[in-house]
Amino acid sequence: MQNPIIAALDVPTAEQALKLAQEIAPAVGAFKIGKELFTSAGPDIVKRMRDTGASVFLDLKFHDIPNTVAKAIASAVRLDVQMVTIHTSGGSEMMRAAEQSAQQTAAQSGRNAPLVLGVTVLTSHDANTLVEIGCEANVGKQVERLALLAAKSGLRGLVCSPLEISALRQILPASIQLVTPGIRTGAEKADDQKRTLTPREAVQAGASWLVIGRPINAAPNPRAAAESILASLR
Ligand code: C5P
Repeated sequence: MQNPIIAALDVPTAEQALKLAQEIAPAVGAFKIGKELFTSAGPDIVKRMRDTGASVFLDLKFHDIPNTVAKAIASAVRLDVQMVTIHTSGGSEMMRAAEQSAQQTAAQSGRNAPLVLGVTVLTSHDANTLVEIGCEANVGKQVERLALLAAKSGLRGLVCSPLEISALRQILPASIQLVTPGIRTGAEKADDQKRTLTPREAVQAGASWLVIGRPINAAPNPRAAAESILASLR
């Protein structure tokens, strides 16, 4: 089994990100660069991380007209990232354009296409939020609807919450990779994550990758925390 831990580099500067990454690199499989770090440090932080040989998950959750998303994905492929996120609520045409752009740009650049991951319903949304924006009030049903649409539109992976893994595994093709945040070991406080699983529970439920932030980066010894999580999976 490959190392499924994706460490979230949820820090504001390139220096902090590189320091954390260097410390924990041997114990994790990839690093997630999100909106905070990317907006402050720019594409250069992706290049510097790739120069260390690390795999990078660029979590910018693109949602726009198909042409714009396709071009943003092409730029991400040229940065040589291994995973990138888009919102499935952008619709099937946008998702198909994103996946096609990933495949075509990768072929032109002589690289493997990154995994384009679809985000379904944000975990900060509840029934009220969905009704407010004119969607199906049942969060679980809306997640399933968007997940099936993503698979039909050619996406090869999805981001989902720990408690959605089992239901999605029952309706999606087995080849779809599921990437799951909301992981807590029990040793730390849940923070703002309300529905969590341990790393082992999430993998047993069918997660392909685990996005882990504070349980590693807020631990007194991040490297030891990452190693202990990895050991719990073996
Ligand atoms: O610190 P923590 O382990 O909660 O970090 C989880 C990471 O996963 C953060 O980067 C957060 O933005 C991201 N994430 C999440 N829940 C989602 C989607 C993404 O926690 N539903």
